[in-house]
Amino acid sequence: MKMKIWGSCSTSTSLIVLLLLMGCLHLESIKPGLDEDLDVGCAEKDRKALLEFKEGLNDFSGWLSSWEGKDCCKWRGVGCNKKTGHVVKLDLKNPSCYNVEQESVGQLSELVMLDLSVNSWEGVISEVHFLNLTRLEEIYISLKSPMKSLVFHSRNVWIPPFSLKSIMVDNVQIGTSFPPWLQTQKELVEIELHNVGISDTVPDGFWKLPDIKYLDLSNNQIRGRLPNWMNFSKAEVIYLSFNFFSGPLPMNIGEIMPRLKVLDLYGNNLNDSIPYSIGILKDLVSLFLSNNQFIGELPGFWKGLQNLQILAIANNNFTGNIPGSMGFLLSLELLLLNNNNLDGELPLSLQNCTNLDTIDLGEYRFCGNVPNWI
Ligand SMILES: *[C@@H]1O[C@H](CO)[C@@H](O)[C@H](O)[C@H]1NC(C)=O
Ligand SMILES: *[C@@H]1O[C@H](CO)[C@@H](O)[C@H](O)[C@H]1NC(C)=O
Ligand SMILES: *[C@@H]1O[C@H](CO)[C@@H](O)[C@H](O)[C@H]1NC(C)=O
Ligand SMILES: *[C@@H]1O[C@H](CO)[C@@H](O)[C@H](O)[C@H]1NC(C)=O
Ligand SMILES: *[C@@H]1O[C@H](CO)[C@@H](O)[C@H](O)[C@H]1NC(C)=O
Repeated sequence: MKMKIWGSCSTSTSLIVLLLLMGCLHLESIKPGLDEDLDVGCAEKDRKALLEFKEGLNDFSGWLSSWEGKDCCKWRGVGCNKKTGHVVKLDLKNPSCYNVEQESVGQLSELVMLDLSVNSWEGVISEVHFLNLTRLEEIYISLKSPMKSLVFHSRNVWIPPFSLKSIMVDNVQIGTSFPPWLQTQKELVEIELHNVGISDTVPDGFWKLPDIKYLDLSNNQIRGRLPNWMNFSKAEVIYLSFNFFSGPLPMNIGEIMPRLKVLDLYGNNLNDSIPYSIGILKDLVSLFLSNNQFIGELPGFWKGLQNLQILAIANNNFTGNIPGSMGFLLSLELLLLNNNNLDGELPLSLQNCTNLDTIDLGEYRFCGNVPNWI
């Protein structure tokens, strides 16, 4: 698992909630964690490949200064299999190195995890770099800023030698369509393709990945509908904000993704009314539907959403009253309703939401006075 650490799209609140949700599991997982007694030291072939890799980098921050001496397993960011001494994890997060093209990393044939996030890489990575990485399960690549200086190239017919569980790409241009090779990856648990320049529709197979827990496709120009057969039965976190998704939400959304904790659809062209099945998402913590074209009255299903902390439905065209059953949202902290066509009396039951510290009613047309308790 990797927490989301880079500039989120949507809101800092979604980021905070996610940090809380995901914890720091990733940071734990990259500790070399070697047992001294069993330690066979680093495989010579891998040590050479790492030194070659270092040669090609501009390590002006000195981050790689620990990369000397015999036992590469003790070098910063390197993790080994303790029995074989082969490098299985390479965490190069943050060192601000340049030019990734020569990547002797491709010789680390036992590599399971490669983390090149929050860097200033430049150059062109191609499928050739990944030829030998048959065991790769996790790959993280991101740039500090969207400079478009790192490009990933692959042929349309490329079938990778690995089967990934996690891929997180941020601020790196991967082309305007969903890479065909990604569709060969059926074991994916986490996908983040944030601000990568995709302006395609989502391929059908992508919606059916059986193990997906975390999906972030935010800040692209992705078009099309969310199908009612998107079978993400294990999904916990879905970020699709800042795209061009359109049409209604699937009526059965609560049934096909019953474990959802975060649903972020902020800033799309979604329309029609809120499906009732959202009311059965008992683990839901954050619901962002703001800045779409939703219509209709707000549903009365809030009693089922005891964990909901953030409800953002601003900038739509909801009509009618604020339902009294919102008083059942005992965990609610942030409620954004502004810029809709809501009216009527503000329900007294909202007093029951004792954790509520921010409420934005914006254009709300009150019948009567603003209650004292607000
Ligand atoms: C893959 O492994 C072969 C044999 O060890 C090696 O010659 C080749 O350079 C490796 N490819 C890459 C991209 O590192
Ligand atoms: C969804 O996927 C699960 C697991 O692969 C499968 O058991 C189930 O039948 C699928 N449901 C639908 C509606 O396709
Ligand atoms: C929703 O948008 C689609 C186009 O994306 C349109 O065909 C449909 O009529 C709209 N539905 C409503 C209820 O506005
Ligand atoms: C919002 O809904 C109202 C009532 O249905 C309608 O009159 C109005 O045109 C809608 N506004 C927008 C911006 O869609
Ligand atoms: C709010 O609290 C009052 C008093 O504790 C209770 O009678 C009422 O049922 C609650 N309403 C809701 C919607 O939870």
